[in-house]
Amino acid sequence: APSVPSLWGVPLKYISLVTLAVQNSALTIIMHYSRVSTPPSQVYSAATAVLMNEILKGVISLIFAFSRIDASSPLSIPVPFNPEPPKPRFLRSCTPSLLLVRVKKLCAELFSPDCWKLSIPAILYVIQNNLQYVAASNLEAATFQVSYQMKILTTAAFSVMMLRKRLLSTQWIALLFLAIGVGIVQIQTGACKDDASAVDAHSMNATKGFLAVVAACFTSGLAGVYFEMVLKNSQGDLWVRNVQLSLFSLLPCIAPIIVSSSGSGSNFGSVSALFHNFGPWAWATVGVQVLGGLVTAMVIKYSDNILKGFATSLSIVLSFLASVALFDFHITFTFMLGSAIVLNATWLYNQQPRRVGLGVSRDTKT
Ligand code: C5P
Repeated sequence: APSVPSLWGVPLKYISLVTLAVQNSALTIIMHYSRVSTPPSQVYSAATAVLMNEILKGVISLIFAFSRIDASSPLSIPVPFNPEPPKPRFLRSCTPSLLLVRVKKLCAELFSPDCWKLSIPAILYVIQNNLQYVAASNLEAATFQVSYQMKILTTAAFSVMMLRKRLLSTQWIALLFLAIGVGIVQIQTGACKDDASAVDAHSMNATKGFLAVVAACFTSGLAGVYFEMVLKNSQGDLWVRNVQLSLFSLLPCIAPIIVSSSGSGSNFGSVSALFHNFGPWAWATVGVQVLGGLVTAMVIKYSDNILKGFATSLSIVLSFLASVALFDFHITFTFMLGSAIVLNATWLYNQQPRRVGLGVSRDTKT
């Protein structure tokens, strides 16, 4: 097994999982609050937020990718003979010629012949990230979080179809319970629709929100499995893959901004039009989403989908408690029942023998 890096003695694997759980809940809460706490005329552009997310994540991943090339292969690069005493390693690696070599190596990796493969998950993730805003604007934060668990179902379906993974009978039962649990939560959402409208500045449309969640679950499953396929079937560095993902996201991110600005007659070239109403809460949402993308990458690298599922289900409880405290979310019996079924189904789905030879492996270790 590859050696797992640690921070202050704690394996990065556990740090990334706990961070993902907290990040998942924080994103649900902050995204919901940033969308519904202002009048409709002052709502910021979700398309701009998704674009900022991809740019920031891409830049951070680029820095990681560059530093990994720097640290892992300086000695493989021929250094000209120098009779002077050797400089510290850091200074040696900062000479213009070595920097140029590393930039060239990074570019060669980034624009490798198979880089186009990332275009498919990139487009799907852009659609998914936009749908998340629609869902968060139209559903209670906790309801969105629970309904979004259906992505386990779509991930399983795409894993079976595309990666030819086999599921245990208990996992199929867990998937059935998951669907039932989400259905129960959905029934209570419909019943509370009028209350929700009264509480928030916007009139939330539960049907619209639920359809957005269903579509987001579909893209999440397909993009996740496709990304897993690319990672497993090639040698590319994870951070390089992340940069490729961000680069391919740029076009689908910019397209809706151009379309909406031409439709509304506003000037696309004006930065102030893009960032209209883009206040601290919008930036906070983008920041938490950037963190999520980076942590997801780390979880895929240092952990696996089994533990990722636990992190997500833990975040349901955190979001639920935060919703009660922050949004005056009313605890109903049906919500408790639906959430309990979803949590138990997630737990049951993740119960599987860790023995090889059963043909059941959801691990995404790289
Ligand atoms: O809900 P789900 O786990 O599918 O969400 C994954 C999120 O992580 C998406 O917002 C996607 O843009 C992001 N991501 C990323 N880099 C990856 C994989 C996912 O930024 N390598």
